[in-house]
Amino acid sequence: MQEFIERIRRVVARHTGLAPEDIKIESPRDALNGDLAFPCFQLAKRQKQPPPAAAVKLGQAIAGELTNIAVVAAGPYLNFRIERSALALSVLGSISVKGAKYGGSSEGAGQTIVLDYSSPNIAKPMHVGHIRSTIIGAALQRLHAFLGYRTVGVNHLGDWGAQFGALVVAIRRWRETVELEKDPVAGLLELYQRSKKALDEDEEFKKEAVVAYQELESGKDGEVRALWRWVTEVSMRGFDATYARLGIQHDLVRGESFYEPLLEPTLQRVQAAGVTEVSQGALVVQLGEIDKGLAKTPCLLRQTNGTTLYATRDLAALFQRWEEFQFARCLYVVGAEQKLHFRQLKAVLARMGCEWASRVEHVDFGLLLGPGRVKLASRKGEVLVLDDLIDEIVAEARAIIAEKNPELPHPERIAEQVGLGAIVFNDLKRERIKDVVFDKAEILAFEGETGPYVQYTHARLGSILRKAPRENVAPDWARLEDAAPILLALGRFPGVVAAAAENCEPSELAQYLLALSRTISSWLAEHKVLDEDPPLRAVRLLLVQGSQVVLKNGLTLLGVGAPDEM
Ligand code: ARG
Repeated sequence: MQEFIERIRRVVARHTGLAPEDIKIESPRDALNGDLAFPCFQLAKRQKQPPPAAAVKLGQAIAGELTNIAVVAAGPYLNFRIERSALALSVLGSISVKGAKYGGSSEGAGQTIVLDYSSPNIAKPMHVGHIRSTIIGAALQRLHAFLGYRTVGVNHLGDWGAQFGALVVAIRRWRETVELEKDPVAGLLELYQRSKKALDEDEEFKKEAVVAYQELESGKDGEVRALWRWVTEVSMRGFDATYARLGIQHDLVRGESFYEPLLEPTLQRVQAAGVTEVSQGALVVQLGEIDKGLAKTPCLLRQTNGTTLYATRDLAALFQRWEEFQFARCLYVVGAEQKLHFRQLKAVLARMGCEWASRVEHVDFGLLLGPGRVKLASRKGEVLVLDDLIDEIVAEARAIIAEKNPELPHPERIAEQVGLGAIVFNDLKRERIKDVVFDKAEILAFEGETGPYVQYTHARLGSILRKAPRENVAPDWARLEDAAPILLALGRFPGVVAAAAENCEPSELAQYLLALSRTISSWLAEHKVLDEDPPLRAVRLLLVQGSQVVLKNGLTLLGVGAPDEM
């Protein structure tokens, strides 16, 4: 497809004097009009004539130069229709040459993308916001890597802050009352919740907590630090088990504590830039002149009692990341509730005159809710633990598979892929800023807008290919006329991948895969593949194979498994 677009661009450029990169070639809204379209509005303006006239004139001029492409002017558009056997040969040829790499490119070569995602808080299980961050962030990392960027996934663990002073005191006081050895994650959660209550109710506790946090921040290697270190290790072990299950690995695990030695230099740097002021003993940056909406919310960098904040550590991390990676983009995959925080950070950079501030992007997203849009709770009504949620869905998937396909080899492995696929796809299928509703029955359905539907379509194609006879017959390329919608969709795949990465919108890819699956399913309902004469069978098998590769590449980019059978 790319090959045809490039050819059209070159010819149009030669006849109009436009630069090839300024020539936008689109998909016509109505497929009956053609496969590709060039809107002539801009050109008409330059030529000082109405767009339809410009389209007709350009069409007459270039028609003879585009082999295998018919040119038709329709209103303000110039439409192109690619000859079907040339289309089939080009699209299916390029898929079979590139295979698992089809859809990727080297557009990002030499550039680095930093992605800050998942970033849960130690001493607590991952909550639903971290689930979404993990799924979206990992998909964005794969998408960018597929386009040739160097990607650096960072886990900015919440392992620092005043709350750890309180947690340490809670461990000191109540460690005997919970089962810290047997189930440290649950035990810590309980102590954490008690510490929050004690902070509100118990003055003594509060004072002790401040002292403990000051000791932690002082760098002293004593009891406080030892406890904190243990909490980090135990929590990380829990997170790692979940990441392994999702097939995710960060390149760097750098919690907030990593930036501790950089906090003083960071504060000095901001002060030296002359943008700070002291307000009631605290160090702040006023942001109103950069962003009017922030006039009442200056960025607080050091509290009156001398301790630093979440924002201080994020600012230190930003400088550090810029210096280490000179990133083309630094993406923060964090829920929309932290909008103000990232707006403030960017405004601080802008006030300091960092010209790279625009490369920092908050990739925000909506909530994950239960059916009826209520808060998603665990069965026990406590904090929802991601692992329990996955277990539950995988168990359901196992039951569905046992019923639909009792003979299936490796049902365990496939249930895991289907269950995880259902969760991940559900999270990615809509624009990320929209809330996600998590309805068990719905996300696991084999029909509809679900991961299992795309997986199932992929497996159906696999089963056709497994039954194909081994024969050496030349495919008849002229006989894919009625499969044009599939060929055009397959040809669009590289463009969809690039746009999904550029817009940080994995949903564009998810929606594409759903549409492709529907197109394939309806084509299969009306066409046979195996029971045809050999040249037709051969070319249809190539179509099936190409479709399977694209579904698999797309699912893999999203983080959804593509089993060959299910
Ligand atoms: N730990 C934070 C939270 O759970 C998320 C951190 C996001 N990343 C960052 N660099 N601020 O809310």
